Amino acid sequence: MEIHRFEKLWVAASLLLIVGFVSTVAYGAIGPGVSMVDDRGGQIDPDEVDQHPEFSDPGPRAIENGQADVYVVAYQFAFEPGSNEPIYVPRGTEVTFHMTSRDVVHGFSVVGTNMNTMVIPGQIATFTVEFDETGEYAVVCHEYCGAAHHTMAGTIQVVSQDRYAEIVANDGATTTTTAGDNTTTAGTTSTNDTTTANGSNDIAVATGVN
Ligand code: CUA
Repeated sequence: MEIHRFEKLWVAASLLLIVGFVSTVAYGAIGPGVSMVDDRGGQIDPDEVDQHPEFSDPGPRAIENGQADVYVVAYQFAFEPGSNEPIYVPRGTEVTFHMTSRDVVHGFSVVGTNMNTMVIPGQIATFTVEFDETGEYAVVCHEYCGAAHHTMAGTIQVVSQDRYAEIVANDGATTTTTAGDNTTTAGTTSTNDTTTANGSNDIAVATGVN
């Protein structure tokens, strides 16, 4: 059977296109360090986030072996920490973020970087990054999560390792006193000092009490 030269060319070009398309999709999926939120970070009962040994007191942890962990809880419509206070991270150290949601699916996207994860109830999303310079990054929720989704934002503050150590030390102290305060005032007035950005007072107060 004789196949015309143009016909062969046309078939070859079509096959080449298909290979090209599949390659770009494959590269996009695995090339730039993209992965699904999987079970590496572990699982968690979204109703018991406040009883989890780490997520009950989210925030930065001390540097150990040149590595620091940061725990962040997402909820409608804030990151804790992140929204009411920055997420502090040390410069020049590997930082592993551990994140979970206690209500619906949220996103955590650090503006101007490729740091980006979904935050899924029941799953603990983790990723490890290193910041070379001190400074501030904006964080936005990039999964539609409800009426005030567009207000769900926060900041990451990259500080020197010394300053970070101070913050971690103070963080423990602050948490203790805050917990005490809330216990005594719960039921009389709703507390206040935590929420500024998004007006979700009820949720912020509930966090403190827990
Ligand atoms: Cu949280 Cu959108």
